[in-house]
Amino acid sequence: MSERTLVLLKPDTVRRGLVGEVLSRFEAKGLTIVAMEHRQIDATLADRHYAEHVQRDFYPPLRDFVTSGPLVSLVLEGDQAIEVVRAINGATDGRKAAPGTIRGDLSLSNRENLVHGSDSTESAAREIAIWFPHLA
Ligand code: RTP
Ligand code: MG
Repeated sequence: MSERTLVLLKPDTVRRGLVGEVLSRFEAKGLTIVAMEHRQIDATLADRHYAEHVQRDFYPPLRDFVTSGPLVSLVLEGDQAIEVVRAINGATDGRKAAPGTIRGDLSLSNRENLVHGSDSTESAAREIAIWFPHLA
């Protein structure tokens, strides 16, 4: 079943010059890029995207991080894209993520973990509507 998912290449990916490296993994897997934008977001958009985390202790530094520089937002499409992207991204904490995953190979941080991927069909619909309203 073809699905769409919202992916972020967070500011650390852009800052470290890893956009090509990360994008190539999704493309090589067979996922299709259906929208993509390079932009810097403000705190209001960060709060909408991370609505489920706004009250958490870790959120203020996370907000500072995701607004700290440009990021790349994109929508990927393919068979079971939501689950497939989460598997390619790896566990949240880059120190614990499995080798072979983006975070496992390229991140040593629980916050600066390079990528975001929607975690359910409901999240994907909500996040695509936030980032790419013309696709919703
Ligand atoms: P994401 O939403 O970015 O795809 O990551 P995820 O599902 O693997 O992790 P989630 O629990 O949704 O957390 C969102 C982002 O918040 C940062 N984080 N920091 N304890 C901490 O310091 C902490 N926990 C999470 C990470 O950037 C994580 O990706
Ligand atoms: Mg999440």
